[in-house]
Amino acid sequence: MFDTMTFTKILGAVCGTFLVMLLGKWAAEEIYHVGGHGHGDHEQAYSIEVESDGDEEMVEEAVDVAALMGSADLAAGEQVFARKCAACHVLEDGVNGTGPHLYSVVGRDIGSVDGYGYSGALVAQADVWGQDELFGFLESPKGWAPGTAMGFSGLGKEADRVNVIAYLESIGN
Ligand code: HEC
Repeated sequence: MFDTMTFTKILGAVCGTFLVMLLGKWAAEEIYHVGGHGHGDHEQAYSIEVESDGDEEMVEEAVDVAALMGSADLAAGEQVFARKCAACHVLEDGVNGTGPHLYSVVGRDIGSVDGYGYSGALVAQADVWGQDELFGFLESPKGWAPGTAMGFSGLGKEADRVNVIAYLESIGN
């Protein structure tokens, strides 16, 4: 019963199994190796994530003005206007001083008061006076709009800007 042929078949089967196992081990190592490359790619993806974090911060900053407006103080804004802006700006519709009248200025087209001689520097920056635009402009008029004729150094305090924007928003809107 144990003839040479049977013995050869068994030996062949055992060797075959062993060969398959060796190939399997080699294949597994190759896959692991590829996995190693994948790990390297993952680290690269991480550095891209860091860059996109920067973008998120910028978006947060833009959203912040609207959020800050929630804590605005109208009475304080009226005082800021009286001390810092009233010398050049009137709030009454159509009445220009050194600067254009600021009646309903929040949401108004930039540089749109008829008969007022603008420098052209403001309209070069944006189209409409939204909260974000006023926030940037009032912090540093010449920084936001180089060449502007508004001879005012700016409101350094964030709270002053927020309050005066809220006050202006209450005039004519
Ligand atoms: C020394 C005078 C002066 C002071 C002080 C001043 N401004 Fe002005 N403002 C101007 C002039 C001049 C312009 C026109 C600028 C231009 O054409 O470049 C102007 C333009 C503006 C505009 C644009 C209006 C439009 O029709 O597009 C806004 C808004 C504004 N000022 C708000 C303020 C606020 C708020 C303050 C106080 C925090 C202030 N300004 C203080 C002179 C002044």
